[in-house]
Amino acid sequence: MKALLEQLGPDDKDRELAAAIDAERLPAHIAIIMDGNGRWANRRALPRIAGHSAGVGAVHKTVETCAILGIGALTLYAFSVENWKRPRGEVDMLWRLLRIYLRKELGELQRNNICLQAIGRLEALPAAVRDELETTIAATARNTGLRLTLAINYSGRAELVDAINAVIETARLNGSLSRLRIDEDMISSCLYTAALPDPDLLIRTSGEMRVSNFLLWQIAYAELFVTDTLWPDFNRTELLKAILDYQRRDRRFGGLSSGPEVADLRAGDSLLEEIVVSSQ
Ligand code: FPP
Repeated sequence: MKALLEQLGPDDKDRELAAAIDAERLPAHIAIIMDGNGRWANRRALPRIAGHSAGVGAVHKTVETCAILGIGALTLYAFSVENWKRPRGEVDMLWRLLRIYLRKELGELQRNNICLQAIGRLEALPAAVRDELETTIAATARNTGLRLTLAINYSGRAELVDAINAVIETARLNGSLSRLRIDEDMISSCLYTAALPDPDLLIRTSGEMRVSNFLLWQIAYAELFVTDTLWPDFNRTELLKAILDYQRRDRRFGGLSSGPEVADLRAGDSLLEEIVVSSQ
């Protein structure tokens, strides 16, 4: 938090938000469904691609803020397998924007010690996009700060299918297929995100209450934050608010927030006795 506060001027409206964040309880991994580019453009009577182009600015700001805050991992849903259904012109423009982003941001990624990764069925991407991605991934591979993952041609269900097939293939190769019993650890270790912690915080912009096939396995216990803000308008203030909201949540992972009091258990015992007696 110190690093961010040092960058903010004395009158910056984000100072108060930044100061309220507990640096010891930052989400280790933030995942974002960037939605609303089309509506942002539509409201301005602009072509949809203008919304995507403005969305790149929000990507830049979000990545920068996460790096300054010291967030360990950020995963952005840039293109889903379903997005191929969009008009060819829009899809082509998205690839062009991604290539421009990668080329333009390389210096910034290096300066901020950010390691870029990509997940999804990347083999189906146009060769020029794959090349640009591979170049940026290789160039930032030794960086030790924020792990920025772009989900491209990504589908949570496809990821699970790939993971299960990988488990089966490994068993076949080492001759243990007939004894194979798949458990959660095996699947987790074969996910595209095997090297990342599961997201603590899933943000979705533009107000839709859906997870849209994103990181289905990994978000089992993620805290959800949905904002009406359209992705191109998402900025540092919005991100700080989402983190503060996350820090106010009581994360129980199916358990209790604090150990059950003995008195509480005794009360439960006598209540149970009453129920048993009255039902006899
Ligand atoms: C959803 O908005 C957004 C996308 C399908 C693409 C996201 C792409 C970017 C933010 C720009 C490029 C990305 C990177 C990482 C440089 P939508 O088009 O579905 O919006 P709508 O629901 O309002 O129509």
